[in-house]
Amino acid sequence: MNAGQIKVNLSLCSVTLITSMAPTVLITGASQGIGKATALLFAQKGYDLVLAARRTEPLAEVEQEVQNLGRAAISVPTDVREADQVKALVDKALDHYGSIDVLINNAGIYISGPAEQFSLEDWHQAIDLNLWGYIHTIHALLPHFLERGSGTIVNLSSIGGKVPVPYLVPYCTSKFAVTGLTESLHSELKPKGIHVCGIYPNVIKSCLMERAIFRGKDEQDAQARREQLDLVVSTPVIEKPEDVAKAIWDAVKNQRAEILVGSASVSKAAYNLLPGPMQWIFRQGLKLKS
Ligand SMILES: NC(=O)c1ccc[n+]([C@@H]2O[C@H](COP(=O)([O-])OP(=O)(O)OC[C@H]3O[C@@H](n4cnc5c(N)ncnc54)[C@H](OP(=O)(O)O)[C@@H]3O)[C@@H](O)[C@H]2O)c1
Repeated sequence: MNAGQIKVNLSLCSVTLITSMAPTVLITGASQGIGKATALLFAQKGYDLVLAARRTEPLAEVEQEVQNLGRAAISVPTDVREADQVKALVDKALDHYGSIDVLINNAGIYISGPAEQFSLEDWHQAIDLNLWGYIHTIHALLPHFLERGSGTIVNLSSIGGKVPVPYLVPYCTSKFAVTGLTESLHSELKPKGIHVCGIYPNVIKSCLMERAIFRGKDEQDAQARREQLDLVVSTPVIEKPEDVAKAIWDAVKNQRAEILVGSASVSKAAYNLLPGPMQWIFRQGLKLKS
């Protein structure tokens, strides 16, 4: 039976009522970039939304845009690094809609620099958000999925979760961990009716730079890293949040285990073919002063 069907057994006959209940999706980091593009695409596809991020105002704007598309949305300001806030988010979502069909773990932060320049606080910023944020939502929502014997979990990893990139060590550590989380969950939960998939984009033209952390030998080096990424992001050929949103939709609709978005599949193929030269190219391109 689908989410939108209620079966009523009467003494003389059995009637299946098709209700207007729409499928539901919970998205973290839904206020901008990939999360926002995904929220709007899922609304266009007929989903009702639960939108989570920390800042209230941009979330409320996305909520309004979803409602303008004719779908229901609630926004729940949440810091996904905090397990109790995530538990409250999931409880609120379930209270409101009765069930959740899809979880999209997306809130994340980019961090770049030489390995020795990161403080432990920097490491925590990357791991607490990019990994623990995902674990918190899965931990809170998995019992619901298991009880229903259905559900989809989408984890936004990165090409940096498939290919080791120098000068992105905490970021790659968090994203490789997300890849492991995704693939092992996929294997365990598939027979239980729960689909788990990983999304692996290359650099995307989003506002990731706003929160990104750059470290270097000195302030100038850190600034040069920021400008280098700025330059890459401003290149017209770089993929957009909407491209990632389409990949997420494809993964959910067609139950794909993983999708390397656009140019990421080329990067992965090149690395598989020539790992040594690719590492050299990455190092030359990203080492700057360090
Ligand atoms: N952009 C890229 O080049 C790229 C490439 C590969 C993979 N990815 C991955 O794709 C995902 C989304 O990236 P994006 O480019 O769309 O990022 P973005 O534009 O910076 O958006 C990040 C979103 O996460 C939210 N967020 C940040 N910290 C949070 C926290 N502690 N709790 C809850 N929400 C939080 C932000 O809202 P608030 O600040 O209001 O909380 C915002 O909505 C990330 O996991 C990223 O690693 C991005």
